[in-house]
Amino acid sequence: MELTSATAYLQIAAFFSDRNLVGMSAWMRAQASEERAHADRFFDFCPRSWQPGAHRGDTGAGGRIRRGRTGVRGRPGSGAGRDRGIHTLYRLASDFGDLASFPFLQAFIAEQNEEESTVQTILDRLRLASGDSGAIFLLDHELGARGDSEA
Ligand SMILES: [Fe+2]
Repeated sequence: MELTSATAYLQIAAFFSDRNLVGMSAWMRAQASEERAHADRFFDFCPRSWQPGAHRGDTGAGGRIRRGRTGVRGRPGSGAGRDRGIHTLYRLASDFGDLASFPFLQAFIAEQNEEESTVQTILDRLRLASGDSGAIFLLDHELGARGDSEA
C-alpha cells in the first residue's frame, strides 16, 4: 500500500511537472519518497514481529497479512484506500492480540491523519484558486519550499 501511494504521488508529480508547476511537482516527489521510506519501515518491521509462530501461530495478523488475506480494499493510491488498509491492519493486530504491532501501526495511523489533513488543505486551496494563476503560482511556490527542504 505504501508503494502504491508512492507511485500515485509520482504520477501526480509528473502531471504538475508537465504543467511546469515545479513546486507542486517537488512536493509530490517528496511525498513519494516519504511513502517509499514507509514501505521500508514495513519491510524492516515485518520480519521481526510477523514471523510464522511469533504470535499465536501463523494464524495471527502477520500470517494473514503475508498471505494476502487481510480483506484490504481500496482504490490504489487513494487516501481512502490507504486509510482502510492501515485501519484493517490495526484491527487484525487487535483481533489476534498482536500487541507488539500496536505502536508501529499507531504511528502510521497518526501519520496518515496528518497527511490527509495536509492534502485536504492543499485541495481546498486549489479549489479556492480556481484558475487564478497568481494564487496557483503562490501555492506552487509554497509547496516547492517543502520539496526543497526535504529533498
Ligand atoms: Fe505512508
